[in-house]
Amino acid sequence: MRALCWHGKYDVRVDTVPDPVIQEPTDAIIKITSTAICGSDLHLYDGYMVEMEKGDVLGHEPMGIVVEVGSAVTKLKKGDRVVVPFVIACGQCFFCTKQLFACCDTTNPDAAKACKLMGHAPAGLFGYSHLLGGYAGGQAEYLRVPHADVGPIKIESDLPDEKVLFLSDIFPTGWMAAENADIEPGDTVAVWGCGPVAQMCIQSCWMLGAGRVIAIDRVPERLAMAATAGRAETINFDKEDVSEQLTTMTQGRGPDRCIDAVGCEAHETGGVDAVLDKVKATLMLATDRAHALRQAIFNCRKGGTVSVPGVYVGMIDKLPFGSVVNKGLTIKSGQTHVQRYSQSLLEKIESGQIDPSFVITHRLPLEEAPAAYKTFRDKEDGCIKVVLKP
Ligand SMILES: NC(=O)c1ccc[n+]([C@@H]2O[C@H](COP(=O)([O-])OP(=O)(O)OC[C@H]3O[C@@H](n4cnc5c(N)ncnc54)[C@H](O)[C@@H]3O)[C@@H](O)[C@H]2O)c1
Ligand SMILES: [Zn+2]
Ligand SMILES: [Zn+2]
Repeated sequence: MRALCWHGKYDVRVDTVPDPVIQEPTDAIIKITSTAICGSDLHLYDGYMVEMEKGDVLGHEPMGIVVEVGSAVTKLKKGDRVVVPFVIACGQCFFCTKQLFACCDTTNPDAAKACKLMGHAPAGLFGYSHLLGGYAGGQAEYLRVPHADVGPIKIESDLPDEKVLFLSDIFPTGWMAAENADIEPGDTVAVWGCGPVAQMCIQSCWMLGAGRVIAIDRVPERLAMAATAGRAETINFDKEDVSEQLTTMTQGRGPDRCIDAVGCEAHETGGVDAVLDKVKATLMLATDRAHALRQAIFNCRKGGTVSVPGVYVGMIDKLPFGSVVNKGLTIKSGQTHVQRYSQSLLEKIESGQIDPSFVITHRLPLEEAPAAYKTFRDKEDGCIKVVLKP
């Protein structure tokens, strides 16, 4: 089959690789019909994620048709149409029974390596390095799906792929980020980033009762989408001082809830910390550029919550932890426990409360994926979200 493979920093290619096969009785094989590129894929493309190997198949936002099931699979059959969550979870371990699916204790064969870096091993993820399981990803013609009775979301209506595809990742991720922010009715929520995750998060903030949403980015079309589709007030961090603006907009109190939907590749806004981050990352002295997280903590009102869906990989320095302690902040984060939200968010799409396809700007054949990565990374051509068609 054809699949998008990682070959090194800034080097991804569509190669011919062996078709996946059933390895465990609980597996299914899916023929992919639509598959998206995520901001998390950029961390691999830009060389931020460790333990990548040449030839690794990327992609973790796929959907398609079941073409084969293992002997122990009971909930899926050939011909079913499914969206596949990016988190691989067994459904039975201590963590899965607590609905902490992204913490599943049994699906990460690289657990020992991950423990060394993080203390404990998170779940395996599709297409996300040999720290998180080494599973082949879904930017491909076919995908092997382990624990097929636990993850895949069956789509029984005739909703088009584009409306349901983002149940794989960014819709539940935006939702969990808003839920983690502990929004109380009428709260002011500031969201760093206006990428696809942030756009889903802004929608979710309203659904969870926010009174005001302020979105921060510097890419004009992303800010415009946050303002129109997201009904958010916006701050352009290239043109305005974020802290000053937030202070003025909240009469000095600060936003009640701050959400970092940027992650480890924050761009500098001129702050000394951002310049140092860039130098350190270039010299391999630090792993993450955490400017957005620092700003979120610094600006959050006393007793507020900082929610962090943005992905960080390793070490952050100059984190204003004194601000966390002395302002009494709560910080919540995590890879999304996608399976926890699948049914309720599918119902929101089916009932017309939200149509997540509004973020899609580019629809391309899989063969054009390498160019699409670059366009998405460089935010060229108005690119906000790419859907690939194998
Ligand atoms: N927790 C999870 O399970 C999960 C799932 C999916 C994605 N993510 C993460 O969420 C983050 C966002 O994903 P995405 O797909 O929207 O990515 P993206 O790269 O398209 O969007 C990031 C946005 O942040 C903006 N930005 C950069 N520096 C900034 C700054 N200093 N202040 C404000 N905005 C800034 C960029 O201009 C860009 O628009 C990534 O880190 C991704 O890895 C996490
Ligand atoms: Zn993703
Ligand atoms: Zn589990």
